[in-house]
Amino acid sequence: MIEPERLTQFTSDIVARGLLYAIANYRIHSPVPLETTENWNFWTQPRSSLIEWLARTYPPESTRKAYLDFMLQSDHSSGIEAHYDISNDFYALFLDTKYRFYSCADFLSDRQTLEEAQANKAAYLMRLLNLHGNERILDLGCGWGAMLRYLQDTGHFGELTGFTLSREQLAYAQTQLGLNVSLTNFISTPFHQASYDRILSIGSLEHVRPQEIEKVYKKIYDALVPGGLAVHQFFSLGREPYPASMVMVQLFFPGSLLVMHSVHIEAAKKVGFKITHDSVHDYKPTLRAWYERLTENQHRALELVDLETYNRYMTFFPISWLFFQQQEAALHRVVMEKSIS
Ligand SMILES: C[S@@+](CC[C@H](N)C(=O)[O-])C[C@H]1O[C@@H](n2cnc3c(N)ncnc32)[C@H](O)[C@@H]1O
Repeated sequence: MIEPERLTQFTSDIVARGLLYAIANYRIHSPVPLETTENWNFWTQPRSSLIEWLARTYPPESTRKAYLDFMLQSDHSSGIEAHYDISNDFYALFLDTKYRFYSCADFLSDRQTLEEAQANKAAYLMRLLNLHGNERILDLGCGWGAMLRYLQDTGHFGELTGFTLSREQLAYAQTQLGLNVSLTNFISTPFHQASYDRILSIGSLEHVRPQEIEKVYKKIYDALVPGGLAVHQFFSLGREPYPASMVMVQLFFPGSLLVMHSVHIEAAKKVGFKITHDSVHDYKPTLRAWYERLTENQHRALELVDLETYNRYMTFFPISWLFFQQQEAALHRVVMEKSIS
């Protein structure tokens, strides 16, 4: 039976936010846990061209822009809290057990585990960082401290610093791992000039809004020593700045709007960086692996979080998979070099 309240919400969501947002929100509020196979197939199997057309064109661009501009007035920390400050134990159910990376891994074959794939990604980023061992490294949006730990484990002895906006992540990284992590908004907090040899970000530039991106790159540039490197992994839009998918994203990351890739690159160049590497990687196998682990741990998950939160993540992973499948965005690894002089 369909509950009248859900139906009313669905109808108003269709009008105000479009079809896909309405369906996603309707399913998130299901009174029972979403069924594993049906749910994955529902989002990832091809849809009719009429539905695709509706999903992409409604609401019209001016309405999408007005709604997104409104959402972007919120404080950064409220969006971060909504997504990350749920329960560290909940995240541990589906992230890799060794480092707890919450970012795209590198599966080199179908048989590799999530743990192996995350280690591959970390090794790839290490190569991009081009380290000798003593560099001072700042990790912007360090999550549960995964990359900082990987750097320690691989013998890095230079100073390591991490910033996060999530209190849950901070508690874990500081108290349980003893890492030098602080609750610092890397978008609004000034950095010390020329104090880092490397600045790293993995999956956090997605939270920087279009109007902030140049300011953030300028701060990173100024905070690096001459010849220093910034290494970033992030996904960015390829086609248009206000796609309908960004309206639906507000269900998962309220207040976030991805930036066009060309805007990232132009902003970085404008502040003085030379781009020395820009590669594209496939996020889909990681999303599938997280989904599988979450569903395998459904019982424990529902002890840790409420049903709506469980269904939200069950919806988030296949929708994100589809987002990359349809090439709405692509995951990039980019190296930015500050000149010596
Ligand atoms: C997708 S997680 C990635 C975490 C980690 N880098 C990893 O690979 O596992 C994004 C991270 O960015 C952080 N973040 C987002 N916006 C931030 C901001 N304005 N200031 C500080 N941290 C931020 C979040 O708190 C979270 O730790």
